[in-house]
Amino acid sequence: MRKLIVTLTLAFAMMAMAQQDVTVTWMTGNRGDDVEFANSVVQKYMDANPHTINGEEYNVTVEVLQGPESATDRLGLYLQFFEAQSGEVDIFEIDVIWPGDLAEHLVDLYQYEGYQDAISAYFPAIVENNTVDGALVGLPYFTDAGLLYYRTDLLEKYGFDSPPTTWDELASMAATIQEGERAEGNADFWGYVWQGNAYEGLTCDALEWVKSFGGGEIISPDGVITINNENAVAALETAASWVGTISPQGVTGFMEEDARNMWQAGNAAFMRNWPYAYSLGQGEDSNVAGMFDVSPLPAGPNGTSADTLGGWQLAVSKYSEYDAVAADVVLFVGNYENQLARALTQSNLPTIEAVYEDEELLNSDVGWFNSLLPVFQSAVARPSTISAPQYGETSRLFFTAVHDVLTGQEDAATALELLELDLQDLHPDFTVGQPE
Ligand code: GLC
Repeated sequence: MRKLIVTLTLAFAMMAMAQQDVTVTWMTGNRGDDVEFANSVVQKYMDANPHTINGEEYNVTVEVLQGPESATDRLGLYLQFFEAQSGEVDIFEIDVIWPGDLAEHLVDLYQYEGYQDAISAYFPAIVENNTVDGALVGLPYFTDAGLLYYRTDLLEKYGFDSPPTTWDELASMAATIQEGERAEGNADFWGYVWQGNAYEGLTCDALEWVKSFGGGEIISPDGVITINNENAVAALETAASWVGTISPQGVTGFMEEDARNMWQAGNAAFMRNWPYAYSLGQGEDSNVAGMFDVSPLPAGPNGTSADTLGGWQLAVSKYSEYDAVAADVVLFVGNYENQLARALTQSNLPTIEAVYEDEELLNSDVGWFNSLLPVFQSAVARPSTISAPQYGETSRLFFTAVHDVLTGQEDAATALELLELDLQDLHPDFTVGQPE
C-alpha cells in the first residue's frame, strides 16, 4: 500500500512537472469594447487548458493589455518595447501599415505549428501585406475600410432620398440638416464629424479626400512622390472649408472615438468612421440605434470615391520568452470561430473569406458586410510598403502638413510644396511626379 501511494504521488508530481504554467500577454486595441472582447476570447483558450504545443503540455494564462487609442501613439509605444528588446508584451496587435516598419522585431509565424495549413483561408492580399522577405510577420485579424455613416431618419425628415454621392452633396445636405436641427433647439448639432487630429487617423481621412479628387496616393507604389498636385490642393481646401462650418472647430482634435461619441449622442448627421462604430451605434446606450446606415464615402469632382484600407494583425514579438505559446494563442484568436464572433459583436470585418458566407453572419445585423465587400476589396492602401521601414515618419509628415491646412496655419499649396521637399529628404531614392 505504502509503495502504491509513493508511486502515485511520484506519478502525479511528474505529470505536474510536465505541464508548464506559462503567462503570455496580448496588447490589444482600445476602441469600444476591444478589451472586453479580447478577454472573452482568451477565456475560451484558457478553458481549453492544457494545450499541447510542440509535444509539450502548457497551462496557459493570457493577460490582455490595453494599448493606446491613437495608432500613432501605439506605434511609439511598441517601438519603445522593441528598442528595449523587452519580452513584457508577447503578442502585439499591429496595424496594416506596420509590417514593413516592424518586421525586424517580429517572429516568422510560418515556423510554428498550424500556420502553413491555416493561412490559405485568409485573404491573399492581406497575407501578402503581412509577408516581409518571405516571413509571415502577422496573422490577419480583421480588416477595415473608411465608411460614411448617415442618419436615415434625418435624411427623410429633410427630404433627401439617398445618402450623398459627392463631397459637394454631403456639404450641402449637412448644412441643411444642421441648420434645421439647430433651429429646433439642438445647439450642439453638427453636419459632419470625422478624424482631424494630427495622427494616423488623419492620414486615412486625408488620403480619401486626396484620392477621390484625383490627387493620387501621396507616394505611388513604385516610389514617385506625387502629393504636390492641384487636385490634392483642392481636396485639402475643401476639407478645410468644413472646419467650423459643417464640422465643429474641435474636429481638428478628433480621433475615431470623439467622432463616434458625438454621433452616438445624436448630434451629427454624418460621420466618417470604420465599421467598428456600427455595432456600438446599434447598442442599447446609443441614441441613434435603428436610425442610421452606412455607405461608401462620397466621390470627388472627377467622380471617384476612395475608402482607406485599414485593419489589424496579430504578431509575436521576437523578444517573447514563450514565442511558440504566443503563436498558438494567436492562431486561436484569429481563427474562423473567433472572427465570426468578432464580426457579430464588434462589426469588424473578417479576414477569412468563408466567414462572409456563414449563415449566422448573413442573417445578422452585419449582413450588409457582403453588399459592401467590393468597396472593402478596392480600398486604397496607404504607401506603407514602399516607404518601409519609414512609413511611420512618412505618415507623420503627411498628417502634420494636412493638419496645418485644417487649422489655417498654412495654405494648402504651400503645405504640399513643403511636404514634397520633406518627403524627398526622407526618401532620397524616390522621384517626384504627378499622379497617374
Ligand atoms: C483603424 C484602422 C487602422 C488605422 C487607424 C487610424 O484602426 O484599422 O488601419 O491606421 O484606424 O486611426
